[in-house]
Amino acid sequence: MRTKLILGCFACLVLAATAAKAETDIIPKPVSVTEMAGEPFRLKNGTTIAINDARLHGPATYLQEVLTRSTGLRIKVKSGTGRIELRLTEPDEQDESYELTADSRRIRITAHSTRGIICGIATLRQLLPPEIERLTPTEGMEWTVQPVCIKDRPQFHWRGLMLDPVRHFYSVEDTKRLLDQMAVYKFNKFHWHLTDSQASRIEIKAYPKLTDEGAWHPYNHLDRGCMERAGKENNPDLLIPRKYIRETADGKELYGGYYTQQEIREVVEYAAQRGIDVVPELDMPGHNHIACQCYPWLSCKGDGNDPLCLGKETTIEYAEKVYAEVFQLFPYEYVSIGGDEVNRTRWTQCTDCQKRIQTEGLRDVSELQAWFTKHMERYFNAHGRKILGWDEILEGGLSKTATVHWWRGDHPDVTQRATEMGNEVVLCPFTFCYFDYAQTDQTLQALYEGDIVPTDLSPQQLRLVKGMQANIWGEWIPTVERMNWQVFPRALALAEKAWTPRAEQQWDEFLPRLQKHLPRLTEMGIHYRPLKTNRP
Ligand code: ACM
Ligand code: ZN
Repeated sequence: MRTKLILGCFACLVLAATAAKAETDIIPKPVSVTEMAGEPFRLKNGTTIAINDARLHGPATYLQEVLTRSTGLRIKVKSGTGRIELRLTEPDEQDESYELTADSRRIRITAHSTRGIICGIATLRQLLPPEIERLTPTEGMEWTVQPVCIKDRPQFHWRGLMLDPVRHFYSVEDTKRLLDQMAVYKFNKFHWHLTDSQASRIEIKAYPKLTDEGAWHPYNHLDRGCMERAGKENNPDLLIPRKYIRETADGKELYGGYYTQQEIREVVEYAAQRGIDVVPELDMPGHNHIACQCYPWLSCKGDGNDPLCLGKETTIEYAEKVYAEVFQLFPYEYVSIGGDEVNRTRWTQCTDCQKRIQTEGLRDVSELQAWFTKHMERYFNAHGRKILGWDEILEGGLSKTATVHWWRGDHPDVTQRATEMGNEVVLCPFTFCYFDYAQTDQTLQALYEGDIVPTDLSPQQLRLVKGMQANIWGEWIPTVERMNWQVFPRALALAEKAWTPRAEQQWDEFLPRLQKHLPRLTEMGIHYRPLKTNRP
């Protein structure tokens, strides 16, 4: 594998002898880019995408889809050689590095994994004109790529976005659009927060009420709040879309929606084709008001109140059966249990919970939650899965093999403590990574320049930092247009923080590059927040 890369480097060096001045506006910034003099590569009718390994059929089809939808050209996928070549060499699925070379005759992407090839495809999308991102064909365009040699690899393996379709619902189509946008910027983890106190968005066949009843409700304070703001700010992006309203037999309007298991499989497949793992989160034991309303026996006093009662065997059986279905739908090994913001006081007044504390020899209600998390972790592990949870899962003790999402930016020691104990961490502190918080030019710069990775970690602790993600909580995001406004363009800053080495991140160099990407975002149909706007 290394021999191959060294050969590639040599090819770059030879070509560099005739290189033009290097200038690239690729985001995230690649490790090395050498622009060459010479005629560009031209996409034409009948251009072939050729693969050297059957495993590349998926990536090739994805590239074909991207290229044909905007160009209207006939592009074929075949084995062997072609004008665009995807080459898998000495396969190593953990290695996302890739090389891309383009000259007038050929574009070649070489990598050691399908993920590496998909990262190369993301770069190729950006080397083509922004119109390549249109969803419908454009006549009369020259689809060219300037001669170039790029060598690239990510700094972090985990580059994610979390979406909350619970507080407000987003359709399968809207979700796929976000996944496609993520793929352009080499995000590779989609954390899908599928349950919360307001609603349940995933069909669970063993517990049909969760979505029959729990996916729908009359407008709540969040919905009304969004609509009030829509009026005050004269902003239709804050209105609840009528497509998510259904009328009951007695004429009442309910807002909501959910994903069937078939739809979930479709989203997981669409993400996989773009090199994105889907990490489901069904939050437990807190944030469960709606589940407790649907099945009151889940709650401590049988009264339908959050959180789940951890003293009752029936609750544990529920949690296991729910996750058994989740494991069937999501192939990725990491699955999140949530575990944040649990109101544990109800457990102090519950005879079942107190009995569990006694029989398990636990000290208090924090240890009761830790007991539950460890129990579920064993269940996850028995099904070949690894458990993830928000950083509250550290309280009351945590097994070494659980991964922690550091979200509480006001608890700066979380990563230090977790990695000291040997736990892996994904960074998403709200101080930088909550994309539902207001975005301004200042927050964009603060995100780009800030140290998301704590600076006081030892090299050994740093190895336990898997990467970073942004969280898009849905309370004030009722439409995909509003989501775009909150998420872009700052997602591009996060993409670079997660991919490019810290020493290479320079705001003054990034900002003009970001500006060049704005027309590309427009072509993707993204209603991003323009720079220098006062609009909230
Ligand atoms: C969270 O924001 N409650 C993880
Ligand atoms: Zn209880």
